[in-house]
Amino acid sequence: MQQITILVGAQWGDEGKGKWIDVLSPHHDMVMRFQGGDNAGHTLHVDGQKYVFHHLPSSILHSKVISGLLAGVVINPLNLLSEIDQLPTDISLDGRFWISSRSHVITPWHVLKDQNEESRSSMAIGTTLKGIGPCYADRVARQGLMMAHYIDPKKTELWLERYKAYDADAGVFLASHQDVMDNFFSARQQIAPHVCDLETRLRSALKDRKTVLCEGAQGTLLDLSHGTYPFVTSSHTIASGALVSMGVGMQYSSKVIGVAKAYVTRVGEGPFPTELMGSDGQKLARLGHEFGSTTGRSRRCGWLDGVALRHACEVNGFDELYLNKCDILSSFGQIKLCTAYEHEKHGRITDFPEDITEYPYLSPIYETFPSWSEASLSGGSLPHELRQYLGRIEELCGVKVSHIGIGPKRQDYIKVS
Ligand code: GDP
Ligand code: IMO
Ligand code: MG
Repeated sequence: MQQITILVGAQWGDEGKGKWIDVLSPHHDMVMRFQGGDNAGHTLHVDGQKYVFHHLPSSILHSKVISGLLAGVVINPLNLLSEIDQLPTDISLDGRFWISSRSHVITPWHVLKDQNEESRSSMAIGTTLKGIGPCYADRVARQGLMMAHYIDPKKTELWLERYKAYDADAGVFLASHQDVMDNFFSARQQIAPHVCDLETRLRSALKDRKTVLCEGAQGTLLDLSHGTYPFVTSSHTIASGALVSMGVGMQYSSKVIGVAKAYVTRVGEGPFPTELMGSDGQKLARLGHEFGSTTGRSRRCGWLDGVALRHACEVNGFDELYLNKCDILSSFGQIKLCTAYEHEKHGRITDFPEDITEYPYLSPIYETFPSWSEASLSGGSLPHELRQYLGRIEELCGVKVSHIGIGPKRQDYIKVS
């Protein structure tokens, strides 16, 4: 078994990553979220109970697994605490939930700034308004609040002095909202016991031959470099982002799993070549319950985009694809798969364009497939029509679909033989 397994979204997020992390967790010693913050919403259905995790790794229900938030994660301390408070009472995090001292803290100022930027901008991204972009921007500008400094009042003071000089607006906000800031720092005591030099511990565990599962948030097409910029999130969502966040090189055996839906959804603004504006799109949304688990917004829906998926396979180096929601497509007589785009000026193209100004010139080229019945998914072997659909996806992407999802529950999946 590989020592490092990295699982990421292959589309624009909400592919069902959380479900698979929960399924795979018991086979690993440690599970680590490597980027993003509480913009994520990872849903699990376990023993009749629904859980939605925003900050907590989706492994958290497994008491024998060490779960953690790595250096690349941004954390809203109060939101993290309220998520911990909502866990079942028999789940203890003592000694098995670790937070990197290198992670960065989302302050109330970041949340306000995100809201202001989105309401003022003529080109709003449709963010989750959780302060993600402003927090990462401060980190890159070397003005951010590291977790190690948040949990120590003396170090916070030093940061605050520098920060006020760097951002005058932030200074005014911080000085005039003492109550908000007191509340923000009140989470310190409960957060601090979890904070450690996580990456050093992790490297030592790897040397001891422990196995690590890395949980991605968002998806490849929201990656800062390889997504539909600027309609992206502010972190590296792709597999190599996990290595940066862990602080390890390429010396360990590894496997990369890409999670996709059998169709595509997107929340927020930005290009979406296979988006369905009519009744098929509404049907996908209704049957797939496509409403954001973080903001409750409706997700835009469309047929599977094989061009975008091949791009995701290439930039991540997927070893396997896990294809969720195959049950939802069973309600359609025929389904479509986009295998190329027709560009108004350049003709047929099969590479995912890097420049969003090109997208208005694109129309998807589809192949049509017969669908399968929902009943045929419960027989153990895969229906012929689904095999045909998976076969074409594998041919387009050069990656095997090794598992399919057939429902939201922990056990609702089939390993493809
Ligand atoms: P994540 O952000 O990638 O973890 O995905 P979300 O949790 O935001 O959205 C995926 C949704 O699909 C959740 O409500 C899951 O419970 C649900 N889901 C996951 N896999 C399947 C599947 O194979 N079939 C169906 N019907 N629902 C699924
Ligand atoms: P999970 O982990 C789907 C989208 C937002 C917006 C863009 C930037 O559940 O798959 P941000 O708040 O990150 O600055 O918003 O990214 N977005 C997501 N879409 N699933 C997510 O997470 C997302 N996290 C952010 O809708 O378009
Ligand atoms: Mg989600």
